[in-house]
Amino acid sequence: MKQTGLDQESVVLGIETSCDDTSIALVSSTGQVLCSLVLDQNSVHGSFSGVVPEMAGRQHLENLIPLLDKGFAQTNLDWECIQGIAVTQGPGLVGCLLVGILTAETLALTQNKPLIGINHLEGHVLAPFLKDKQYQPSFEHTQPFLALTVSGGHTALYKVDAPFQYELLGSTVDDAAGEAFDKLAVMLGLGFPGGGQIDQLAQMGDSKAYAFPRPLLKAKNFSFSGLKTAALRLIESLPTSKLASATPDICASYQEAIVDVLLTKLMLAVQTHSIKNVVITGGVSANRRLRTLAQDWADGEGLTLAIPPLRYCTDNGAMIGWAGALHLQAGHRSSSPILPKPVFRLGMVV
Ligand code: KG4
Ligand code: ZN
Repeated sequence: MKQTGLDQESVVLGIETSCDDTSIALVSSTGQVLCSLVLDQNSVHGSFSGVVPEMAGRQHLENLIPLLDKGFAQTNLDWECIQGIAVTQGPGLVGCLLVGILTAETLALTQNKPLIGINHLEGHVLAPFLKDKQYQPSFEHTQPFLALTVSGGHTALYKVDAPFQYELLGSTVDDAAGEAFDKLAVMLGLGFPGGGQIDQLAQMGDSKAYAFPRPLLKAKNFSFSGLKTAALRLIESLPTSKLASATPDICASYQEAIVDVLLTKLMLAVQTHSIKNVVITGGVSANRRLRTLAQDWADGEGLTLAIPPLRYCTDNGAMIGWAGALHLQAGHRSSSPILPKPVFRLGMVV
């Protein structure tokens, strides 16, 4: 395969195994998703209140190739139709990353395809620009935009001036926003991962019932560990008999504090950098309160907002495939061996 870029019609295989979702996708160079399959491991890790790395790696090993076979079968595509392979290189759990990388390297070698290792966070930043029959983004990734990336492992705000040019404006100094949701869910006995459950229960609660702190509200970085401690203190102070009835109010108030912090920082960044295009992405962008308040704000301020549909909010191979397609199109390649990067910063710090 020659080292020039891919053309517009090229199809790239994306492989994502950084944490507890095994995913493959077939994506065109224009970001059109032909197929995206995700196998979560919630039933495997749920009873441990967190992801067990060894079990996650083993699950990826068992499930990745059957998932790929399913993707080919669903789309009637075969290796002839694939022009490149993209795999998550990091950040993530080293054993999980290794399964994806070794699989991708083997496939690239045996099928003679170019290969690129992708920063998972770049995948999240680009996910709002994926396209399928039900979803079209409201603007193109080639325009300057701000990206709030909020997931179980990461919380960061980026300024993107042009493709591949990421400036890190701020990130969490302790817990990620999704981690804060998950930890409250464990404290309330709601299972893991619990962001979706809290979102659900919060619908029935009063967001003003409890005053949770808004840490580092005006600072460039994020912090959520104090919020978690405040929730723990509150839960410990409640009689056991009151906890069930107080749970929706706790969820609503806690969620409000997280959403308030996230949106306040996004609003400040919009003012500071005079950028009118905004994306919110990552697993926490599935949160209904965040989506509603963000859309109201964007409409009020005349901003263009893109939040991906739920299937591209949480971890998926489509975002990796498309980030890979853009890099391969630009002539970028990873040399073998691709080393997993459990810690992998995206962009320059400003
Ligand atoms: O992006 P993702 O799938 O994985 C990481 O890269 O971390 O994000 C998973 C996170 C979990 O913490 C989960 O609880 C959270 O996203 N999440 C939500 C919602 N759906 C998923 N958090 C709040 N509200 C939701 N509806
Ligand atoms: Zn992620």
